[in-house]
Amino acid sequence: MKADNPKPVLLADYRPPEFLIDSVHLDIALAPVKTRVTSKLHIRRNPDSEAAGKVPLKLDGELLKLESVTLDGKKLKPSSYRVTETGLTISSPPKEPFTLEIVTTINPKANTALQGIYLSRGVYCSQCEAQGFRRITYFLDRPDVLAKYTVRLEADVATAPVLLANGNPVERGTLSGGDRHYAVWEDPHPKPSYLFAVVGGDLSSIASTFTTQSGREVDLRIYVEHGKEARAHWAMESLKRSMRWDETRFGREYDLDVFNIVAVSDFNMGAMENKGLNIFNDRLILASPETATDANYESIESVVAHEYFHNWTGNRITCRDWFQLCLKEGLTVFRDQEFSADQRSATVQRIGDVRQLKALQFPEDQGPLAHPVRPESYVEINNFYTPTVYEKGAEVVRMIETILGPEKFRAGMDLYFDRHDGQAVTIEDFVACFEDASGQDLSQFHRWYSQAGTPELVCNLTYDKRKKSAELTVHQVLKPSPGKAKKQPYFIPISMALLGENGKEMDLEVEGGVQIRDGVVAVTDRTTTFKFKGVSSRPVPSMLRGFSAPVMINMPLSDQDLAFLMHHDSDLFNRWQASNAYATRSILALLDAKRPKTVVASKAVKLADALRYALRNSDLDDAYKAELLKLPSVADVAREKATKVDHAAIFNEHRAFNRTIGEKLAEDLEAIYAASRDNKFSPDAKNAGRRALRNAALSLLTTRGTKDDMDRLEAHYFNASNMTDACHAMFLIAGVDAAGRDGVLNDFFERWKDDHLVIDMWFAAQAQSPRAETLDEVKELCRHPLFKITTPNKVRALIGTFAASNPLQFNRTDGAGYEFLADKVLEIDPLNPQVAARMLGAFRSYRALEPKRKTLAKAALKRVAGATKLSRDCLEMVTRMLDD
Ligand code: BES
Ligand code: ZN
Repeated sequence: MKADNPKPVLLADYRPPEFLIDSVHLDIALAPVKTRVTSKLHIRRNPDSEAAGKVPLKLDGELLKLESVTLDGKKLKPSSYRVTETGLTISSPPKEPFTLEIVTTINPKANTALQGIYLSRGVYCSQCEAQGFRRITYFLDRPDVLAKYTVRLEADVATAPVLLANGNPVERGTLSGGDRHYAVWEDPHPKPSYLFAVVGGDLSSIASTFTTQSGREVDLRIYVEHGKEARAHWAMESLKRSMRWDETRFGREYDLDVFNIVAVSDFNMGAMENKGLNIFNDRLILASPETATDANYESIESVVAHEYFHNWTGNRITCRDWFQLCLKEGLTVFRDQEFSADQRSATVQRIGDVRQLKALQFPEDQGPLAHPVRPESYVEINNFYTPTVYEKGAEVVRMIETILGPEKFRAGMDLYFDRHDGQAVTIEDFVACFEDASGQDLSQFHRWYSQAGTPELVCNLTYDKRKKSAELTVHQVLKPSPGKAKKQPYFIPISMALLGENGKEMDLEVEGGVQIRDGVVAVTDRTTTFKFKGVSSRPVPSMLRGFSAPVMINMPLSDQDLAFLMHHDSDLFNRWQASNAYATRSILALLDAKRPKTVVASKAVKLADALRYALRNSDLDDAYKAELLKLPSVADVAREKATKVDHAAIFNEHRAFNRTIGEKLAEDLEAIYAASRDNKFSPDAKNAGRRALRNAALSLLTTRGTKDDMDRLEAHYFNASNMTDACHAMFLIAGVDAAGRDGVLNDFFERWKDDHLVIDMWFAAQAQSPRAETLDEVKELCRHPLFKITTPNKVRALIGTFAASNPLQFNRTDGAGYEFLADKVLEIDPLNPQVAARMLGAFRSYRALEPKRKTLAKAALKRVAGATKLSRDCLEMVTRMLDD
């Protein structure tokens, strides 16, 4: 690391704050280049702090212009405080409680980092998590300082008729002259500064109400750009369903008179759970059948739920420090996954969640960016909002539920809400609630929070026909992660069954390991052996049902066994898993040049047979069948390959394999395609499932590439009566050199060029295309009048899609994909470091590449690392990736 690198923050260095802030009165006079913030803080010494006597008060602050500091009514002389780039220090504050009044000015218009208060298409809005509040005023900007906030907002009536802040509205009025007005908001719940929010702008809204289970009437409102009101109804419905669900499933009720959501167009992330005033990326609020896909509808539903659920898991009970991030994020992802599972098919939801975990978290956990679910050190906390903290964090909560069972899990959650309401707590506090509620010792389980890396379970099953017994050994392989060479074995819950000849689960007597309940065992040692008695015939194991732990299973199952599971497993998740494993294995075998191609082609035929059998099974729903038809992606195969990855080779074999499946299944696929046309659009699970199946059939049929196939594809676009179908066709045709390709892309552009959200899909469709011209086209699109480097959604749609969803062209053998990404990261970094650093994540698996690509990727990373004035965000990312 360079000499001037910022020092990492360590979990081990945590100390309680020396001062507490009980209440905050903020007066914010909004103006584009000079917003004036007057902050009145009631401060006292923390009785629980070890520091005593003479301690300076150090408030965090960044990019602020200090106007004045007043202590207990007396203006301070500059000699009694010190201002630096990171804060304001008052050298000898009083021993007794005191009032500090600070006036600062900030510039929302110049704020391209989109942290603190900024302007998004003329709307003032704020983003404070994790450390943006310090860009609004000087403060103890840490989550364990909980204060009550009163906010007075003032702005021009003409440009900002709507003025919102956290909590309940208490007063509003016009100022003399009539050009300016104000609103006062009060939040009765003490909260950390990261949950603070304000909005001011000319917005329209839709309204509804919700009556909580105890009879509290809540006004719900969603604010959107004028003219977009009709597109906010799905979000509103989702919100009401989330509120009801949290009452019935977790007994959690809403706690303010109003709940406001604001959709803005410039947002670094997806959405933010500010108390009573959630702020959303508009892509996660706005939806109509013409403009949004089923996937958009689904993500709106789950993100609205996620941010709402934070009201209890995050806001009422918050994190002691940022190392505990998974305390709120992992838990809230678990809650939103459970909610989504209840809204649609639970198995399909689980398949989607596991796909996501494997596609994003597994690669992170196996590369240079691996970190524990609870990290122990960070330079820039924004770099730790990761798939590991979120998705693996959710899996850890899910494992607790699997170990305890639903009743005891709920008792543990109840205890957590009861015991810690109003506090800022740790993972230890959280886990202790489950131990106390269940009597289960979770000390070994705790390693899931502190050890990085995906455990690999090497399993072996032997059968003794004479003794009618079977033996299963499970060995935990725990590879080193950055900073940790040796690891301790985990407590891993494994949901499993042994299936008999007829596909039925055998009734067994089990010895060894830990028996959790029927069908669930746990391994605890490096090697655990289970003995099963009463095994009447050679069993086929159905392991890790429902993906009961975030591990890789390595089990020598024959093709026949996998085919058997695809047909017979009573666990539908595992039927999908078997089919997915079979397809991946077959493509990997194709890559292995030593195998004769004919042998491998016969594998495709076998898979096609199994898929046909499932397609004709009327007990399975369409959404599930669609998941079966979505064969593993190029990236999935690359991940399983794990070393010396050559994306071009994988792409070719992958295409050949898909084509064979498409050919073999053609008759059934064509029948599905013809039968299930969409009449009237409805976003519900059943209709979305039907569209998903038909589109999956279309994808496979298209792999054959005949003229008829291309005509069908083009017609699918032009006949589409909803965005799901139109978009599916556009993405497919953008990926091939079909005659109709340009016509479709031009039509889409002309139709949607005035809709900034829809046009993002047009950028993305072109960026994901595996055609050789793609990189040149993406570079050209960066100069398109509708592309804007300061708008995160545009950057993600074009550059993000290219880097993260175009494995073939990003990993070009000439390294031009890597160089392009490095260029763009360096261009974005001075404007918006958080977004730039996230883009660098596309390099997370570069060490698994074959040597030539690996060298080129490393060179691109080194070029970024060597740039002058790199942000802390990007510097930390490249340093971790280049560290050996
Ligand atoms: N608290 C986060 C938003 C956030 C993330 C703020 C990173 C600051 C830095 C919010 O609850 C969240 O998790 N949002 C996700 C979507 C969610 C459904 C997983 C997001 O923004 O991606
Ligand atoms: Zn969250």
